[in-house]
Amino acid sequence: MSAATATETQGLSGAPVDTTNGNAPLISISHVERDFVGDDGSVTTALSDVNLDIRKGELISIIGPSGCGKTTLLRLISGLDKPQRGEVSFKGRRIEGPNPERGYVFQQGSLFPWLTVEENIAFGLKAQGKYKEHKDEVAEYIAKVGLQGFEKSYPHQISGGMAQRVAIARALIDHPEVLLLDEPMGALDSFTRADLQDRLLDLWEKYHMTMILVTHDVDEAIYLGNRVVIMTPRPGRIKEIVPIELAQRDRVSDDFTAYRKQLLTKLHFNVHAAHND
Ligand SMILES: Nc1ncnc2c1ncn2[C@@H]1O[C@H](COP(=O)(O)OP(=O)(O)OP(=O)(O)O)[C@@H](O)[C@H]1O
Ligand SMILES: [Mg+2]
Repeated sequence: MSAATATETQGLSGAPVDTTNGNAPLISISHVERDFVGDDGSVTTALSDVNLDIRKGELISIIGPSGCGKTTLLRLISGLDKPQRGEVSFKGRRIEGPNPERGYVFQQGSLFPWLTVEENIAFGLKAQGKYKEHKDEVAEYIAKVGLQGFEKSYPHQISGGMAQRVAIARALIDHPEVLLLDEPMGALDSFTRADLQDRLLDLWEKYHMTMILVTHDVDEAIYLGNRVVIMTPRPGRIKEIVPIELAQRDRVSDDFTAYRKQLLTKLHFNVHAAHND
C-alpha cells in the first residue's frame, strides 16, 4: 500500500480490531480524559476523549507537539496515573496501578547515579526480592543491549546512548509484555539514535513484545512503527493513525520518503496551531 492511501482516520475504538478470531486488543484506551488543576485553580486538559486499541505484538509510535499529552498517555497505560474520565484496560481489565508486565523507559535519564550499570539493571529484581533466582539474567540482559565490559561503570562514565540501553535493559529484565518508551532517543546524536533504533527493533522482533514509543522524530516514528499515532496540540486528542507498510526498513526508500512527507505535512499544521494558542 502506498503512503498516500495508507491513512485511516481514527474511529471510536482506534485501530480496527479483528474480533472474529478472538484477537481482542491487548490495550484499550476508551474515551480517556485527563485534567490537571494548577495551584491557582486553573485547569489544563492534557488529554481529551482519547481512543486507541493496541494489539499484541504491535509497535506503535506516538508523535505530536510538545505538551500534547504523550507522557500523560504513557503514564496512564503504565498505571502510574489514572484518567478522570474514560478507561484504560489491559487484557480486558481496567488498569489500576503499575505492574511489571508493563515496563517503562522514562523520558529523562532515570538511572541511579550511585549505582553501577549492573546494579541499576538489577535494581528492580532486588526491590522485588527476585535477585537471587534471576541473578544470571543481569549478565544476559547486559549482553542483549551490548554493554559487556561496562558492568562496573557508573552512569557518569558512560555515554547517553549507553545510559538509555541500561534503562531499556532494566525494563526488559522484568519480562514485560509491553514496553513503554518515552522518547528514549530524544537526547542522542543521529548515529547513536540509529544504532539504538535497530537494537530496539531486534528486541521487538526477538521477544514478540508490544512496544509503544513516544517520539518527536518523524523518521523514527516511521522507521519503527507499525502505526503512527498523530496527536493534536493541547488538549491532546488523536488526530489520525497512519499505518506504516514499508517493503523494507530503509530510511531513503521512496516509500519512506512518501510517509515522511505525509507526516511532516500533518505535523506542521499542528505545530503552527500550537503557536497560536
Ligand atoms: N503533574 C502535572 N501537573 C500539572 N500539569 C501537568 C502535569 N503533567 C502534565 N501536565 C500538563 O499536561 C500537558 C501535557 O503534558 P505531557 O508531559 O503529557 O506532554 P508531552 O506531550 O509529553 O510533552 P513533551 O513532548 O514536551 O514531553 C502539559 O500542558 C503539561 O504542562
Ligand atoms: Mg513528554
